[in-house]
Amino acid sequence: MLICQVLSPVVVSCVVMRVLGIESSCDETAAAVVEIDDRGVCTLLSNVVISSLDLHAKYGGVVPEIAARSHIEAIEPVVDQAVSQAFPDDDDPWDKIDAIAVTYGAGLGGSLLIGVLTARTLAIVKKKPLYGINHVEGHLYANFLSGGSPSLADEYKFPSKTPEFPVLGLIVSGGHSQLVLFEDHFKYRLLGQTNDDAIGEAFDKVAKIIGLPYPGGPNVSKKAAEGNAQAFQLPKAKMAQKYDFSFSGLKTAVLRLAQEQIGEDFTFPSTGLAERLSEQQKADIAASFQRVAVETVVDKTVLAFEEFQPKTVIIGGGVASSPALRQALAERLPVAVEYADPKLCTDNGAMIATLGCFKLWLGQPEADPYTLDIKPNLSM
Ligand code: KG4
Ligand code: ZN
Repeated sequence: MLICQVLSPVVVSCVVMRVLGIESSCDETAAAVVEIDDRGVCTLLSNVVISSLDLHAKYGGVVPEIAARSHIEAIEPVVDQAVSQAFPDDDDPWDKIDAIAVTYGAGLGGSLLIGVLTARTLAIVKKKPLYGINHVEGHLYANFLSGGSPSLADEYKFPSKTPEFPVLGLIVSGGHSQLVLFEDHFKYRLLGQTNDDAIGEAFDKVAKIIGLPYPGGPNVSKKAAEGNAQAFQLPKAKMAQKYDFSFSGLKTAVLRLAQEQIGEDFTFPSTGLAERLSEQQKADIAASFQRVAVETVVDKTVLAFEEFQPKTVIIGGGVASSPALRQALAERLPVAVEYADPKLCTDNGAMIATLGCFKLWLGQPEADPYTLDIKPNLSM
Protein backbone atom coordinates (compact mmCIF):
# COMPACT_ATOMS: atom_id res chain seq x y z
CA MET A 1 0.00 0.00 0.00
CA LEU A 2 1.29 3.44 -0.89
CA ILE A 3 0.34 6.33 1.39
CA CYS A 4 1.21 9.80 0.13
CA GLN A 5 1.90 12.65 2.50
CA VAL A 6 0.67 16.21 2.19
CA LEU A 7 2.84 17.52 -0.62
CA SER A 8 0.95 20.66 -1.44
CA PRO A 9 -2.42 22.19 -0.62
CA VAL A 10 -3.82 20.29 -3.62
CA VAL A 11 -2.64 16.76 -2.74
CA VAL A 12 -4.20 15.78 0.59
CA SER A 13 -3.72 12.04 0.61
CA CYS A 14 -3.41 9.26 -1.93
CA VAL A 15 -3.72 5.83 -0.43
CA VAL A 16 -3.13 3.45 -3.28
CA MET A 17 -3.75 -0.28 -3.08
CA ARG A 18 -2.72 -2.89 -5.62
CA VAL A 19 -4.44 -6.17 -6.35
CA LEU A 20 -3.22 -9.15 -8.35
CA GLY A 21 -6.09 -10.75 -10.30
CA ILE A 22 -5.95 -14.36 -11.49
CA GLU A 23 -8.35 -15.79 -14.09
CA SER A 24 -8.50 -19.39 -15.36
CA SER A 25 -12.20 -20.20 -15.80
CA CYS A 26 -12.07 -21.31 -19.43
CA ASP A 27 -9.26 -21.37 -22.02
CA GLU A 28 -7.35 -18.22 -21.03
CA THR A 29 -4.70 -18.28 -18.30
CA ALA A 30 -4.54 -14.67 -17.19
CA ALA A 31 -3.12 -12.46 -14.47
CA ALA A 32 -2.98 -8.70 -14.03
CA VAL A 33 -2.21 -6.05 -11.45
CA VAL A 34 -4.57 -3.11 -10.93
CA GLU A 35 -4.23 -0.24 -8.50
CA ILE A 36 -7.06 1.70 -6.88
CA ASP A 37 -6.68 5.14 -5.34
CA ASP A 38 -8.61 6.73 -2.51
CA ARG A 39 -11.25 8.03 -4.93
CA GLY A 40 -11.88 4.55 -6.37
CA VAL A 41 -10.05 5.30 -9.62
CA CYS A 42 -8.50 2.11 -11.04
CA THR A 43 -5.33 1.95 -13.14
CA LEU A 44 -4.01 -1.06 -15.02
CA LEU A 45 -0.37 -1.82 -14.17
CA SER A 46 0.04 -5.10 -16.07
CA ASN A 47 -2.08 -7.58 -18.02
CA VAL A 48 -0.81 -10.96 -19.17
CA VAL A 49 -2.94 -13.52 -21.04
CA ILE A 50 -1.96 -16.87 -22.51
CA SER A 51 -4.71 -18.58 -24.45
CA SER A 52 -4.98 -22.27 -25.30
CA LEU A 53 -7.50 -21.36 -28.02
CA ASP A 54 -5.31 -22.75 -30.84
CA LEU A 55 -5.22 -26.17 -29.18
CA HIS A 56 -9.03 -26.31 -29.14
CA ALA A 57 -9.62 -25.02 -32.67
CA LYS A 58 -9.41 -28.43 -34.36
CA TYR A 59 -12.11 -29.78 -32.00
CA GLY A 60 -14.43 -26.85 -32.74
CA GLY A 61 -14.79 -25.89 -29.08
CA VAL A 62 -13.01 -25.82 -25.73
CA VAL A 63 -11.92 -29.29 -24.53
CA PRO A 64 -11.97 -29.06 -20.70
CA GLU A 65 -9.07 -31.49 -20.14
CA ILE A 66 -6.81 -29.66 -22.61
CA ALA A 67 -7.74 -26.30 -21.06
CA ALA A 68 -6.92 -27.54 -17.54
CA ARG A 69 -3.57 -28.98 -18.62
CA SER A 70 -2.66 -25.73 -20.38
CA HIS A 71 -3.47 -23.74 -17.23
CA ILE A 72 -1.08 -25.93 -15.23
CA GLU A 73 1.73 -25.12 -17.66
CA ALA A 74 0.96 -21.42 -18.00
CA ILE A 75 -0.18 -20.23 -14.58
CA GLU A 76 3.20 -19.73 -12.92
CA PRO A 77 4.88 -17.79 -15.74
CA VAL A 78 1.71 -15.72 -16.30
CA VAL A 79 1.49 -14.69 -12.63
CA ASP A 80 5.25 -14.01 -12.42
CA GLN A 81 5.13 -11.83 -15.53
CA ALA A 82 2.08 -9.89 -14.33
CA VAL A 83 3.73 -9.09 -11.00
CA SER A 84 7.16 -8.21 -12.41
CA GLN A 85 5.76 -6.14 -15.30
CA ALA A 86 3.66 -4.11 -12.85
CA PHE A 87 6.74 -3.11 -10.86
CA PRO A 88 9.70 -3.38 -13.26
CA ASP A 89 12.09 -1.41 -11.04
CA ASP A 90 11.46 -3.32 -7.83
CA ASP A 91 13.63 -6.10 -6.40
CA ASP A 92 10.66 -7.54 -4.54
CA PRO A 93 7.52 -6.63 -6.47
CA TRP A 94 5.40 -8.86 -4.21
CA ASP A 95 5.91 -6.27 -1.48
CA LYS A 96 3.73 -3.90 -3.48
CA ILE A 97 0.79 -6.30 -3.80
CA ASP A 98 -1.91 -5.69 -1.18
CA ALA A 99 -4.31 -8.52 -2.04
CA ILE A 100 -5.00 -11.36 -4.45
CA ALA A 101 -8.31 -11.81 -6.28
CA VAL A 102 -9.20 -15.00 -8.13
CA THR A 103 -12.09 -16.28 -10.23
CA TYR A 104 -13.74 -19.12 -8.30
CA GLY A 105 -16.79 -19.51 -10.59
CA ALA A 106 -18.52 -19.80 -12.95
CA GLY A 107 -16.47 -21.87 -15.35
CA LEU A 108 -14.94 -25.25 -16.11
CA GLY A 109 -14.17 -27.16 -12.90
CA GLY A 110 -10.67 -28.33 -13.81
CA SER A 111 -9.71 -24.91 -15.14
CA LEU A 112 -11.03 -22.99 -12.13
CA LEU A 113 -9.16 -25.31 -9.81
CA ILE A 114 -5.75 -24.31 -11.19
CA GLY A 115 -6.34 -20.58 -10.67
CA VAL A 116 -7.93 -21.00 -7.25
CA LEU A 117 -5.23 -23.33 -5.89
CA THR A 118 -2.52 -21.00 -7.20
CA ALA A 119 -4.16 -17.98 -5.58
CA ARG A 120 -4.74 -19.80 -2.29
CA THR A 121 -1.10 -20.93 -2.15
CA LEU A 122 0.18 -17.44 -2.95
CA ALA A 123 -2.14 -15.84 -0.39
CA ILE A 124 -0.76 -18.13 2.31
CA VAL A 125 2.92 -17.96 1.32
CA LYS A 126 2.99 -14.21 0.59
CA LYS A 127 0.59 -13.40 3.45
CA LYS A 128 -1.95 -11.46 1.39
CA PRO A 129 -5.72 -11.19 1.80
CA LEU A 130 -7.64 -13.28 -0.74
CA TYR A 131 -10.88 -12.45 -2.56
CA GLY A 132 -13.03 -14.90 -4.53
CA ILE A 133 -14.44 -13.30 -7.67
CA ASN A 134 -17.53 -14.16 -9.70
CA HIS A 135 -16.28 -14.29 -13.30
CA VAL A 136 -19.50 -12.90 -14.75
CA GLU A 137 -19.54 -9.92 -12.35
CA GLY A 138 -15.85 -9.47 -13.19
CA HIS A 139 -16.61 -8.98 -16.89
CA LEU A 140 -18.53 -5.80 -16.07
CA TYR A 141 -15.66 -4.44 -13.97
CA ALA A 142 -13.42 -4.16 -17.04
CA ASN A 143 -15.46 -0.97 -17.53
CA PHE A 144 -14.24 0.46 -14.20
CA LEU A 145 -10.62 0.67 -15.36
CA SER A 146 -9.92 4.32 -16.08
CA GLY A 147 -6.37 4.19 -17.35
CA GLY A 148 -3.07 2.38 -17.53
CA SER A 149 0.51 2.89 -16.39
CA PRO A 150 2.61 4.83 -18.94
CA SER A 151 3.86 1.60 -20.53
CA LEU A 152 0.25 0.40 -21.14
CA ALA A 153 -1.54 3.66 -21.84
CA ASP A 154 -0.89 3.45 -25.62
CA GLU A 155 -1.74 -0.23 -25.87
CA TYR A 156 -5.23 0.05 -24.38
CA LYS A 157 -8.17 2.35 -24.88
CA PHE A 158 -9.99 3.24 -21.65
CA PRO A 159 -13.45 4.74 -21.08
CA SER A 160 -13.33 8.50 -20.53
CA LYS A 161 -15.05 8.28 -17.13
CA THR A 162 -15.92 5.79 -14.39
CA PRO A 163 -19.48 4.42 -14.68
CA GLU A 164 -21.97 6.32 -12.52
CA PHE A 165 -24.60 4.47 -10.46
CA PRO A 166 -27.27 3.33 -11.00
CA VAL A 167 -25.61 1.22 -13.68
CA LEU A 168 -27.34 -1.13 -16.08
CA GLY A 169 -24.99 -3.98 -16.98
CA LEU A 170 -25.36 -6.30 -19.95
CA ILE A 171 -23.20 -9.42 -19.93
CA VAL A 172 -22.84 -11.14 -23.27
CA SER A 173 -20.21 -13.86 -23.25
CA GLY A 174 -19.68 -17.42 -24.42
CA GLY A 175 -21.19 -18.75 -21.21
CA HIS A 176 -23.58 -16.01 -20.04
CA SER A 177 -26.24 -13.56 -21.16
CA GLN A 178 -27.56 -11.45 -18.31
CA LEU A 179 -29.02 -8.04 -17.54
CA VAL A 180 -28.12 -6.67 -14.11
CA LEU A 181 -29.08 -3.43 -12.35
CA PHE A 182 -26.44 -2.04 -9.95
CA GLU A 183 -27.54 0.47 -7.33
CA ASP A 184 -23.94 0.60 -6.14
CA HIS A 185 -20.90 -1.67 -5.92
CA PHE A 186 -22.06 -5.07 -4.59
CA LYS A 187 -25.70 -3.93 -4.51
CA TYR A 188 -27.24 -5.38 -7.59
CA ARG A 189 -30.20 -7.31 -8.82
CA LEU A 190 -30.36 -9.76 -11.67
CA LEU A 191 -33.10 -8.57 -14.02
CA GLY A 192 -32.92 -11.46 -16.45
CA GLN A 193 -30.74 -14.13 -17.97
CA THR A 194 -30.69 -16.74 -20.66
CA ASN A 195 -32.85 -19.79 -20.07
CA ASP A 196 -30.66 -21.95 -22.31
CA ASP A 197 -27.69 -21.03 -24.55
CA ALA A 198 -25.65 -17.87 -24.05
CA ILE A 199 -25.46 -15.45 -26.97
CA GLY A 200 -21.75 -16.17 -27.59
CA GLU A 201 -22.50 -19.90 -27.57
CA ALA A 202 -25.18 -19.30 -30.23
CA PHE A 203 -22.63 -17.41 -32.38
CA ASP A 204 -20.19 -20.31 -31.94
CA LYS A 205 -22.82 -22.93 -32.87
CA VAL A 206 -24.00 -21.02 -35.92
CA ALA A 207 -20.37 -20.73 -37.01
CA LYS A 208 -20.10 -24.53 -36.88
CA ILE A 209 -23.28 -24.97 -38.95
CA ILE A 210 -21.98 -22.71 -41.73
CA GLY A 211 -18.41 -24.07 -41.49
CA LEU A 212 -16.56 -21.13 -39.93
CA PRO A 213 -13.60 -21.85 -37.67
CA TYR A 214 -13.58 -21.60 -33.86
CA PRO A 215 -13.98 -19.17 -32.13
CA GLY A 216 -17.17 -18.62 -34.05
CA GLY A 217 -18.28 -15.18 -32.85
CA PRO A 218 -15.70 -12.99 -34.59
CA ASN A 219 -15.89 -15.16 -37.74
CA VAL A 220 -19.69 -14.98 -37.94
CA SER A 221 -19.32 -11.25 -37.42
CA LYS A 222 -16.89 -10.97 -40.38
CA LYS A 223 -18.97 -13.20 -42.64
CA ALA A 224 -22.13 -11.26 -41.77
CA ALA A 225 -20.53 -8.10 -43.16
CA GLU A 226 -20.72 -9.69 -46.65
CA GLY A 227 -24.36 -10.76 -46.27
CA ASN A 228 -27.89 -9.37 -46.31
CA ALA A 229 -29.28 -9.19 -42.76
CA GLN A 230 -32.85 -9.18 -44.11
CA ALA A 231 -32.34 -12.21 -46.38
CA PHE A 232 -34.06 -14.54 -43.91
CA GLN A 233 -36.63 -14.01 -41.17
CA LEU A 234 -35.65 -15.95 -38.05
CA PRO A 235 -37.69 -16.23 -34.82
CA LYS A 236 -37.15 -14.14 -31.70
CA ALA A 237 -38.00 -16.08 -28.52
CA LYS A 238 -40.94 -14.84 -26.43
CA MET A 239 -40.17 -15.21 -22.74
CA ALA A 240 -42.38 -15.49 -19.65
CA GLN A 241 -40.00 -13.14 -17.75
CA LYS A 242 -39.58 -9.96 -19.75
CA TYR A 243 -35.81 -9.59 -19.20
CA ASP A 244 -34.93 -13.25 -19.84
CA PHE A 245 -33.31 -14.46 -23.05
CA SER A 246 -33.31 -17.67 -25.07
CA PHE A 247 -31.05 -18.49 -28.00
CA SER A 248 -31.48 -22.22 -28.51
CA GLY A 249 -34.59 -21.82 -30.70
CA LEU A 250 -32.74 -19.32 -32.87
CA LYS A 251 -29.82 -21.72 -33.26
CA THR A 252 -32.19 -24.55 -34.28
CA ALA A 253 -33.95 -22.21 -36.71
CA VAL A 254 -30.57 -21.50 -38.33
CA LEU A 255 -29.95 -25.25 -38.65
CA ARG A 256 -33.36 -25.78 -40.31
CA LEU A 257 -32.78 -22.79 -42.58
CA ALA A 258 -29.40 -24.16 -43.72
CA GLN A 259 -30.97 -27.57 -44.41
CA GLU A 260 -33.78 -25.94 -46.35
CA GLN A 261 -31.33 -23.85 -48.40
CA ILE A 262 -29.62 -26.96 -49.74
CA GLY A 263 -32.94 -28.72 -50.35
CA GLU A 264 -32.68 -31.26 -47.54
CA ASP A 265 -34.97 -32.00 -44.58
CA PHE A 266 -34.34 -31.93 -40.82
CA THR A 267 -32.65 -35.36 -40.87
CA PHE A 268 -29.67 -34.03 -42.86
CA PRO A 269 -26.59 -33.93 -40.56
CA SER A 270 -25.35 -30.49 -39.53
CA THR A 271 -21.75 -31.54 -40.25
CA GLY A 272 -22.49 -31.89 -43.97
CA LEU A 273 -24.13 -28.50 -44.45
CA ALA A 274 -21.14 -26.19 -44.84
CA GLU A 275 -19.77 -27.85 -47.97
CA ARG A 276 -23.16 -27.61 -49.72
CA LEU A 277 -23.88 -23.95 -48.88
CA SER A 278 -22.60 -21.22 -51.21
CA GLU A 279 -20.50 -18.41 -49.74
CA GLN A 280 -23.39 -15.99 -50.33
CA GLN A 281 -25.85 -18.28 -48.53
CA LYS A 282 -23.42 -18.53 -45.59
CA ALA A 283 -23.03 -14.76 -45.47
CA ASP A 284 -26.81 -14.19 -45.62
CA ILE A 285 -27.41 -16.78 -42.86
CA ALA A 286 -24.66 -15.19 -40.70
CA ALA A 287 -26.07 -11.67 -41.22
CA SER A 288 -29.70 -12.69 -40.59
CA PHE A 289 -28.76 -14.67 -37.46
CA GLN A 290 -26.59 -11.84 -36.14
CA ARG A 291 -29.38 -9.30 -36.66
CA VAL A 292 -31.87 -11.34 -34.61
CA ALA A 293 -29.35 -12.28 -31.88
CA VAL A 294 -28.28 -8.65 -31.49
CA GLU A 295 -31.86 -7.36 -31.60
CA THR A 296 -32.80 -9.83 -28.86
CA VAL A 297 -30.33 -8.39 -26.35
CA VAL A 298 -30.73 -4.80 -27.49
CA ASP A 299 -34.57 -4.95 -27.19
CA LYS A 300 -34.28 -6.03 -23.55
CA THR A 301 -31.52 -3.53 -22.75
CA VAL A 302 -33.63 -0.68 -24.13
CA LEU A 303 -36.67 -1.93 -22.18
CA ALA A 304 -34.66 -2.06 -18.94
CA PHE A 305 -33.18 1.37 -19.65
CA GLU A 306 -36.68 2.84 -20.02
CA GLU A 307 -37.94 1.18 -16.84
CA PHE A 308 -34.97 1.86 -14.54
CA GLN A 309 -33.41 5.02 -16.03
CA PRO A 310 -29.80 4.14 -15.16
CA LYS A 311 -27.09 6.82 -15.39
CA THR A 312 -24.72 4.48 -17.21
CA VAL A 313 -24.98 1.36 -19.37
CA ILE A 314 -22.00 -0.98 -19.43
CA ILE A 315 -21.39 -4.13 -21.46
CA GLY A 316 -19.13 -7.03 -20.58
CA GLY A 317 -18.09 -10.32 -22.17
CA GLY A 318 -16.62 -11.38 -25.50
CA VAL A 319 -19.69 -10.45 -27.58
CA ALA A 320 -19.26 -6.82 -26.43
CA SER A 321 -16.61 -6.68 -29.19
CA SER A 322 -19.32 -7.22 -31.81
CA PRO A 323 -19.52 -4.17 -34.10
CA ALA A 324 -23.16 -5.04 -34.90
CA LEU A 325 -24.09 -5.00 -31.19
CA ARG A 326 -22.26 -1.72 -30.63
CA GLN A 327 -23.96 -0.10 -33.61
CA ALA A 328 -27.44 -1.28 -32.56
CA LEU A 329 -26.95 0.01 -29.00
CA ALA A 330 -25.68 3.34 -30.29
CA GLU A 331 -28.77 3.68 -32.48
CA ARG A 332 -31.33 2.67 -29.90
CA LEU A 333 -30.12 3.85 -26.49
CA PRO A 334 -30.45 7.54 -25.56
CA VAL A 335 -27.05 7.43 -23.77
CA ALA A 336 -23.69 6.66 -25.33
CA VAL A 337 -22.10 3.40 -24.20
CA GLU A 338 -18.38 3.44 -23.58
CA TYR A 339 -16.61 0.12 -24.04
CA ALA A 340 -13.65 -1.50 -22.40
CA ASP A 341 -10.75 -2.16 -24.75
CA PRO A 342 -11.46 -5.32 -26.86
CA LYS A 343 -8.51 -7.00 -25.09
CA LEU A 344 -10.39 -6.49 -21.82
CA CYS A 345 -13.78 -7.69 -23.15
CA THR A 346 -12.68 -11.31 -23.53
CA ASP A 347 -11.40 -13.21 -20.48
CA ASN A 348 -8.55 -11.47 -18.66
CA GLY A 349 -7.05 -10.96 -15.20
CA ALA A 350 -7.51 -7.17 -15.24
CA MET A 351 -11.29 -7.37 -14.80
CA ILE A 352 -10.78 -9.78 -11.86
CA ALA A 353 -8.15 -7.53 -10.28
CA THR A 354 -10.40 -4.47 -10.72
CA LEU A 355 -13.33 -6.10 -8.93
CA GLY A 356 -10.80 -7.29 -6.31
CA CYS A 357 -9.69 -3.66 -5.87
CA PHE A 358 -13.25 -2.59 -5.07
CA LYS A 359 -13.66 -5.51 -2.64
CA LEU A 360 -10.50 -4.43 -0.82
CA TRP A 361 -11.31 -0.73 -0.97
CA LEU A 362 -14.87 -1.17 0.30
CA GLY A 363 -14.00 -3.70 3.01
CA GLN A 364 -15.84 -6.68 1.53
CA PRO A 365 -15.35 -10.05 3.30
CA GLU A 366 -12.12 -11.88 2.48
CA ALA A 367 -12.04 -15.52 1.39
CA ASP A 368 -10.32 -18.14 3.54
CA PRO A 369 -7.15 -19.20 1.69
CA TYR A 370 -7.37 -22.65 3.33
CA THR A 371 -10.92 -23.39 2.17
CA LEU A 372 -11.92 -21.25 -0.86
CA ASP A 373 -13.57 -23.74 -3.21
CA ILE A 374 -14.46 -23.53 -6.88
CA LYS A 375 -18.11 -23.01 -7.90
CA PRO A 376 -18.46 -24.05 -11.57
CA ASN A 377 -22.19 -23.12 -11.64
CA LEU A 378 -21.94 -19.87 -9.68
CA SER A 379 -24.61 -17.37 -10.72
CA MET A 380 -24.93 -13.66 -10.02
O1 KG4 B 1 -16.18 -13.48 -22.41
P1 KG4 B 1 -15.55 -14.50 -23.25
O2 KG4 B 1 -14.12 -14.33 -23.66
O3 KG4 B 1 -15.63 -15.91 -22.60
C1 KG4 B 1 -16.62 -16.33 -21.75
O4 KG4 B 1 -16.61 -15.95 -20.56
O5 KG4 B 1 -17.51 -17.03 -22.26
O6 KG4 B 1 -16.49 -14.60 -24.54
C2 KG4 B 1 -16.21 -15.44 -25.61
C3 KG4 B 1 -17.40 -15.40 -26.56
C4 KG4 B 1 -17.31 -16.49 -27.62
O7 KG4 B 1 -18.56 -17.14 -27.69
C5 KG4 B 1 -17.01 -15.69 -28.88
O8 KG4 B 1 -17.49 -16.34 -30.04
C6 KG4 B 1 -17.74 -14.39 -28.61
O9 KG4 B 1 -17.46 -14.13 -27.25
N1 KG4 B 1 -17.27 -13.26 -29.45
C7 KG4 B 1 -18.05 -12.64 -30.37
C8 KG4 B 1 -17.22 -11.65 -30.97
N2 KG4 B 1 -15.99 -11.72 -30.40
C9 KG4 B 1 -16.04 -12.71 -29.45
N3 KG4 B 1 -19.33 -12.83 -30.72
C10 KG4 B 1 -19.84 -12.04 -31.69
N4 KG4 B 1 -19.12 -11.10 -32.33
C11 KG4 B 1 -17.84 -10.86 -32.00
N5 KG4 B 1 -17.14 -9.92 -32.65
ZN1 ZN C 1 -15.76 -14.68 -19.71
